[in-house]
Amino acid sequence: RTYQVSYFVGSLSSTSINRTLSKALLRVAPEHLEFTEIPIRDLPLYSPDYDDDYPPEALELKAAIDRSDAVLFVTPEYNRSIPGALKNAIDWASRPWGRNSFDHIPAAVIGASPGAIGTAVAQQSLRAVLSFCNARQMTAPEAYITFSPEVFQEDGSITKESTEAFLTEFMNEFGDHIRRVLAVLPRSA
Ligand code: FNR
Repeated sequence: RTYQVSYFVGSLSSTSINRTLSKALLRVAPEHLEFTEIPIRDLPLYSPDYDDDYPPEALELKAAIDRSDAVLFVTPEYNRSIPGALKNAIDWASRPWGRNSFDHIPAAVIGASPGAIGTAVAQQSLRAVLSFCNARQMTAPEAYITFSPEVFQEDGSITKESTEAFLTEFMNEFGDHIRRVLAVLPRSA
């Protein structure tokens, strides 16, 4: 069957390398995964004061996750963690208390940076957050992408065969992970 995967790009930059990476991932993903981006840009900063009356952007965020079979995070590393905009989106989705949208959802994390460490530290930080949110994370393979503009074209095409093969494998594994998780934990949405 086909799975609906929502993805978050953790960057608000107009020239985001992680957005380019997301395009590459969509290109190499297996056909039974269908992707929709969940925008994070227009969310206000979360406060518990909103818990009784979420603004439309946050209601739509939670509804979009509820409609999804799985979520994918494509994020930069900011100061050895994830960007505030992404953390803010996760905080919105995790609340109000008792209505955590990530509960039991299949999830995967990936990210790119120009540096050799390839967002490894940010991904560990994100994994800790997603653990607390009770998402069912794919633990392997991991993917720490050192971004090179020669390898990743703006339209998402990949010029290096080994990189394309690695990312294809990552997305195939994610598809398998989603199927396995949903076999024991069907989504009610
Ligand atoms: C960075 N960058 C960065 N890179 C990294 O590998 N580790 C880090 O901790 C940081 N910290 C950091 C903080 C802030 C505030 C900025 C703006 C940048 C560099 C970062 O990887 C680079 O700007 C990427 O291009 C960001 O990804 P997007 O926005 O292009 O997708």
